[in-house]
Amino acid sequence: GAPVKANLSKIEPGQMIVVEWRGKPVYVVRRTPETLADLAKLNDEVRDPESLEPQQPAYVKGLARTIPGKEEFLIILGLCTHLGCAPMYRPEVGAADLGGDEWLGGFFCPCHGSKYDLSGRVYKGVPAPTNLEVPPHSYNTDTVITVG
Ligand code: FES
Repeated sequence: GAPVKANLSKIEPGQMIVVEWRGKPVYVVRRTPETLADLAKLNDEVRDPESLEPQQPAYVKGLARTIPGKEEFLIILGLCTHLGCAPMYRPEVGAADLGGDEWLGGFFCPCHGSKYDLSGRVYKGVPAPTNLEVPPHSYNTDTVITVG
């Protein structure tokens, strides 16, 4: 599959777009400073807080799971690591059906209930075994990426 370009300049804070790469959905989320600040609070709730398992390229680092300096934009495959359903983007904090006050926003898989935070890190106690995958990508400019 060929690499694909995406323009991030029109994504509002908190919004997600979907780009197709190799027939797979790539989710691109523009995160807010509040979301990024909250990631560390979830370290005890997620299975692999530092993403030490290899679900991302080596140049992707930290709790934000991005190229250093590019933390604002989360770029992940929209394929649940359990059985491959498309997780729903549920960014609202405190969603009553997803754990109320404990839910700080993320992704919810409707197939068997896996939950991920806004870095695609999987919560404990749900069927998905690993964090959502970060695909290989690079920045052409501050707002244009190439996936692949
Ligand atoms: Fe997502 Fe099973 S495919 S929880």
